[in-house]
Amino acid sequence: MLLLKKIVPYLKQVMTTKVDIDRRFEKQHKLGQGSMSEVWRARDRKSGRTIALKVLDYEKTRRLEARFAGLKRPTEGSVAITLRHPNIVRTLEHGLTTHGEQYLVMELIKGSSLPLLIDLQNDVMLANRLKFTIQIGEGLDYFHKQGWIHRDLCPRNVLVDKQHQIKLIDFGLVVPNTPEFRVPGNRTGTASYMAPELVKRQPTDQRIDIYSYSVSCYEMFAKRLPYNVDPTLTLDMVVQHINSPPTDIREVVPDIDDHIAATIMKGLSPDPNQRYSNVSEMVNQFKKAQERLEEEYEYYDEDEKTTDDEYEYVYDDDEGGEAEDDEYEYEYEEYDEDDT
Ligand SMILES: Nc1ncnc2c1ncn2[C@@H]1O[C@H](COP(=O)(O)OP(=O)(O)OP(=O)(O)O)[C@@H](O)[C@H]1O
Ligand SMILES: [Mg+2]
Repeated sequence: MLLLKKIVPYLKQVMTTKVDIDRRFEKQHKLGQGSMSEVWRARDRKSGRTIALKVLDYEKTRRLEARFAGLKRPTEGSVAITLRHPNIVRTLEHGLTTHGEQYLVMELIKGSSLPLLIDLQNDVMLANRLKFTIQIGEGLDYFHKQGWIHRDLCPRNVLVDKQHQIKLIDFGLVVPNTPEFRVPGNRTGTASYMAPELVKRQPTDQRIDIYSYSVSCYEMFAKRLPYNVDPTLTLDMVVQHINSPPTDIREVVPDIDDHIAATIMKGLSPDPNQRYSNVSEMVNQFKKAQERLEEEYEYYDEDEKTTDDEYEYVYDDDEGGEAEDDEYEYEYEEYDEDDT
């Protein structure tokens, strides 16, 4: 029986058919060059569909896996394939290439990357950032409820599709939310989004993702990180700054809604016990703020209609509309050049 238990996973691995990527897929162009992989827009000759193909770098994956030696860390593909949420990219297939690299076949997200929108702070961003905040939180909440810790949530790993819906991508550093993976030690992740307890090599849990989520929310509203430091930080530099508290977002964005500001700042508490204990609590605060703001907006709108300024106001808005359309086109060029 014991022998069988040991042999079955081995057999599964050996029996997995390896895929000749270049025969199976017609690569069209590179969508992204991640730190661990290459992602291609490609046509799947088998299904005829246009998809996103992620091929993990063999050597870098091996090195990452070595950091979790002795622990059964699931592969990115085996985690991604189980996820079904409107704000998480859908993975259609995963496996090994004939060269032994892991690959994932995903739905192709046409749209924009979140860092670009943070940088532009254009109409799309201004009109949607609270919705984006909520949708990232909903994707993360679902993810946590499936029993995982993300460990690399940051704007770089968030896409916004053409309908302005959030899609979380990249589950390359995910670990199960189990005691053996919560012990101190491994500091994989992106330096500027790492929770202090992770940087300080203390025990970690899903609240490290709440911290990274809060840094990402901060950036969406403030266009900068919560610390007065260079954003291209190395981990060693973060260690030096980790003891200084984050700058209150109200100082950076004076007109931010107070409830939204307080929610983000609580998520950024250096002490995990002072943060929200789970993502849904935090998202509920954003949703309450959204409901209130919508009510206030409707009220304000009613008021507007009764004033003489209305004509002026509508006229201005029309001009803004044209500018927005141009930006919209421009914004997606980077991402999906040959989309017609
Ligand atoms: N499903 C998708 N549809 C469209 N583009 C995608 C998709 N998945 C990934 N990309 C593009 O490829 C880039 C790299 O993907 P991903 O973040 O998964 O790779 P990575 O090597 O794990 O990255 P890193 O470790 O640098 O965060 C993304 O930033 C995005 O631009
Ligand atoms: Mg990534």
